[in-house]
Amino acid sequence: MQGKSGSCRFLYRVPGIKAERVLLVGLGKKESFGAKEYCDAVRNAVSSFNGTGTRDAWISLAELAVIERNPEWKARHMVLAASEVLYRFEKMKSTKTSRNSLSSLVLGLHTAAGRPAFERGIVAGQAIAAGVNLARDLGNLPGNVCTPSYLAQTAEELSDGHGLAVELLDRKEMERLKMGALLSVAKGSRQPPKFIVLKHDGAPKKERPVVLIGKGITFDTGGISIKSAGEMDEMKFDMCGGAAVIGTMRAIAEMKLRLNVIGIVPATENMPGGAATKPGDIVTSMSGQTIEILNTDAEGRLILCDALTYAERFQPSAVVDIATLTGACVIALGHVCAGLFSNSDKLASELLAAGESSWDRAWQLPLWEDYQEQLKSNFADVANIGGRAAGSVTAACFLSRFAKRFDWAHLDIAGVAWRSGKDKGATGRPIPLLTNYLIEKAKGHVRR
Ligand code: BES
Ligand code: MN
Ligand code: ZN
Repeated sequence: MQGKSGSCRFLYRVPGIKAERVLLVGLGKKESFGAKEYCDAVRNAVSSFNGTGTRDAWISLAELAVIERNPEWKARHMVLAASEVLYRFEKMKSTKTSRNSLSSLVLGLHTAAGRPAFERGIVAGQAIAAGVNLARDLGNLPGNVCTPSYLAQTAEELSDGHGLAVELLDRKEMERLKMGALLSVAKGSRQPPKFIVLKHDGAPKKERPVVLIGKGITFDTGGISIKSAGEMDEMKFDMCGGAAVIGTMRAIAEMKLRLNVIGIVPATENMPGGAATKPGDIVTSMSGQTIEILNTDAEGRLILCDALTYAERFQPSAVVDIATLTGACVIALGHVCAGLFSNSDKLASELLAAGESSWDRAWQLPLWEDYQEQLKSNFADVANIGGRAAGSVTAACFLSRFAKRFDWAHLDIAGVAWRSGKDKGATGRPIPLLTNYLIEKAKGHVRR
């Protein structure tokens, strides 16, 4: 055992130790043992239990010094990292094969001094992990199961179990509100669209809420501008922004966070069909702005723009939308971080910091006026696409036109919401970032 990071070794019947087995975990160099190395070590250790029949484990990694991280952080991320590798999705398998035998994980401490901070970290970690697991389940469920109605039902169940208030708007109510952009996406689908609103009242009524808006396209075929067949199955993940909002709401409700937060999920399929929206169609959004739909595959921004206008009624202190919005974001940033856009430098830096601290990072891209030109339409106020150049930026520019009345940020999570290939599946990102942002916001709030 040389202590190289990533290496693990079991020792059996160690003299003087009661445990049946001792697991040695390589950690690499002490000087460079930071957030990533710590989470990797926990993930490695916990996955080493796979197939060993281990029932109970006592883990002491949280006692290590991690660069710039405190005991509460270490406990919270111990829970999150362990939960990440223990997660299984077998809801759609007829026989459950990969049962993990681990039933308890004890965070060992040699002194009582750090105990309160550790306990706070464990409580928060468990709430966040439950939100992450819920979002991963929703993402992994296929499009024929996880429909807009299924998302709505999941939200409703959270209102029973977690004290969240829920409001569901159906097509009729969306028509009354003149959500012409959202409805134009739903036109090709047999599944009824749902507009989901979740409320967590953690602070006095007069405190302005934070509003989270998550893209809830339960399947994105592209519509009449249909996508090619390769990997189209992955477009069941196009509701991961919505799932992140639902998961975050669950986590903060469980933590009883002292902050008012509203979660909105506009949910619909994007399907071709005889009634579907056609390229060139012009629709009127709830804001009154008219939109020329040049490509029906740029549907995310169409459902989000009406949700942004709807959010105005809450007089929010900040609005953050989360969306698997553009393939271009994956090209720009890969799978490491989300793309961040904002009309407020303060909000942007709070979100960047929340991502850094939870190791669920984002990277800011520009929202300069110069890019707005690409959205010019000959026939309507704005076009829904801006050409191949800077595709993620022009998508964000489109949204910015509907976010003029509040501090707003947009997270493009197309690269981070799921993994492809043999480990295909939803990640639950960016729930750690979002919950961390809200936790910090609630703290600032109490001090004032
Ligand atoms: N849901 C997709 C974005 C996406 C594509 C995420 C691939 C992850 C992987 C979105 O609705 C979409 O289709 N965007 C188009 C926009 C284009 C038509 C301007 C895209 O990215 O190709
Ligand atoms: Mn699309
Ligand atoms: Zn989409």
